[in-house]
Amino acid sequence: MRRLLLAGAAVLALGASALLWSTAPERADPAVLEGIAPDPERGAQLFLAAGCASCHAAPDAPPGTRPVLAGGRRLASPFGTFVAPNISPDPQAGIGTWQPIDLFNALKYGTSPEGRHYYPAFPYTSYRHMSPADVVSLFAYLRSLPPDPTPNRPHELPFPFSVRAGLGLWKALFLRGGWVLRDPPDAAAERGRYLVEALGHCGECHTPRNALGGLRRRLWLAGAENPAGAGWVPNITPARLHWSEADLLGYFTTGFTPDYDTVGGSMAEVVENLSRLPEDELRAIIAYLRAVPAVAPTKRQKE
Ligand code: HEC
Ligand code: HEC
Repeated sequence: MRRLLLAGAAVLALGASALLWSTAPERADPAVLEGIAPDPERGAQLFLAAGCASCHAAPDAPPGTRPVLAGGRRLASPFGTFVAPNISPDPQAGIGTWQPIDLFNALKYGTSPEGRHYYPAFPYTSYRHMSPADVVSLFAYLRSLPPDPTPNRPHELPFPFSVRAGLGLWKALFLRGGWVLRDPPDAAAERGRYLVEALGHCGECHTPRNALGGLRRRLWLAGAENPAGAGWVPNITPARLHWSEADLLGYFTTGFTPDYDTVGGSMAEVVENLSRLPEDELRAIIAYLRAVPAVAPTKRQKE
């Protein structure tokens, strides 16, 4: 009996270590970035298109051209409250000691330089599609911003969400799959796919999630509960978004809807960033939105 128990315990321990091993944080071979020269102007544009400041700028920071990425914004979620970290070039408080490969591993695999898992509140689920050259340019741009000494504050997460090791399993389940729109109909929609699925992380807000917080890719952009609490993030598939190209362009550049309402909630900062991108990029986003499968609004959303 004792032997049987021991054998059982050994099998369990083996199983647990196999699980932890198979879900250990992944990292890239630094050679993937070798020989890539940064393009700082491209980096500035990527920074806008990816909306990094929406989470990492200090909560009271005025919008400006030289954002101070001191962190400190509180991000509510069903799993607890995350506090965005300082990603300014300060060597102690921020990421001033990082190399481009560290940013690549963070964006691509959600892995920290020390080899820990990041929470997907940092939307690497989308950013993982960024090209190595773009990560190098984004890194150079981040490095050019002002350093800030504000120390990081801990997330406020209840057990078991406070345990980072469990994130390996989450990643194994949800950090997978290629593009959602497999066959873009033309070059504009393909360019838009990169802007929406990789950079703009539009799906992180506009796509519903399952009970574990994974995106339900089959309901891509079909509208979702607002993670911050009240309200609903709208369905922006062709089933419900009937705005003309001019309407959408107007919305993305001025924040006005076709019926002269103004953009609100978390979309306001998205529009602030989009409005500073070249018009071609916005037209590409629109081409993409036209090309995604139409998914009918859910019953709750219609109410
Ligand atoms: C929706 C909010 C959000 C957006 C948008 C966002 N981040 Fe973050 N980011 C976070 C959170 C939350 C964390 C902390 C994750 C953790 O502790 O596991 C984080 C962590 C990081 C870290 C790790 C910092 C450290 O000290 O280890 C880096 C680097 C980073 N983000 C860079 C970026 C860049 C670059 C962008 C834009 C391409 C970006 N983030 C966009 C929320 C966001
Ligand atoms: C941080 C969450 C968030 C992200 C990221 C986000 N959105 Fe939104 N979006 C919203 C919310 C919330 C609204 C509703 C705004 C309102 O009530 O005024 C909205 C509204 C919209 C609308 C208007 C739809 C309507 O029927 O009123 C469009 C179009 C849109 N988003 C497109 C996009 C695109 C394209 C992206 C990516 C580039 C994006 N959104 C990224 C949260 C987000």
